[in-house]
Amino acid sequence: MAASAGYSSRFLAWAYAAASPLYDLIVWWGFLPLGGERRCRREFVRWIHLEPRMRVASLCCGTGTMERAILVEAPLVEITGVDLGSGQLARARRLSRHPGVSYVRADATATGLETGAYDRVLISLALHEMTRPTRLAVLREARRLCAPTGRVVAIEHGRPATRRARLFRAVWWFFWIPGNPEVPTSRDLRARGLDREMAESGLEVVGHETTSPDWIEAFVAAPTAAV
Ligand SMILES: C[S@@+](CC[C@H](N)C(=O)[O-])C[C@H]1O[C@@H](n2cnc3c(N)ncnc32)[C@H](O)[C@@H]1O
Repeated sequence: MAASAGYSSRFLAWAYAAASPLYDLIVWWGFLPLGGERRCRREFVRWIHLEPRMRVASLCCGTGTMERAILVEAPLVEITGVDLGSGQLARARRLSRHPGVSYVRADATATGLETGAYDRVLISLALHEMTRPTRLAVLREARRLCAPTGRVVAIEHGRPATRRARLFRAVWWFFWIPGNPEVPTSRDLRARGLDREMAESGLEVVGHETTSPDWIEAFVAAPTAAV
């Protein structure tokens, strides 16, 4: 597999590999103004509306923090985490010993998982790092995996309502670092609209959630009959 296979850029492929030990620390820092990562992840789990025995696919699962949070709140679900990063997956496997979770190394644009087999398909905090063609491919794959009565839940950077809040978040999340690769893709996602990109990918948005303060949002969507 080429170094950048599946990632939006060679730089990101390198950065994910190099930064995987630091990744959880950076995320922990990022959540501090929102009341802490544990509190936020618990809130994200509520947004997913899980029931016992549900099957969940988590695309771009990283180090498995979301999967561990899910299994604390809903221990009877079955989760498959998918990521391209071997460093992230090694950490996820090491920290998640729950029998309900398994991890697969695959490209989220073409996972090889079973069509229509998942009650919930989660994409948490990953789309903003992708170019539009990759985002749309991941969203189409999420739609393919989602059961007809299931839901796709995309958790992403929101747009804080005030300029002051946007500035504070940009400083806190290191958007000011020259060449930060998530800045152009995050801006592009914001301009295009995640809800509109979900609609383009055969998903009908049926719910919207935001954290307080409004730094992170989620769209909950159902697969439409025709793509
Ligand atoms: C910012 S992390 C998000 C991790 C996690 N979902 C969370 O909530 O913290 C983005 C992850 O997406 C993964 N990723 C990026 N592009 C991918 C692709 N095309 N296929 C699979 N994983 C991908 C990266 O390896 C990284 O672990």
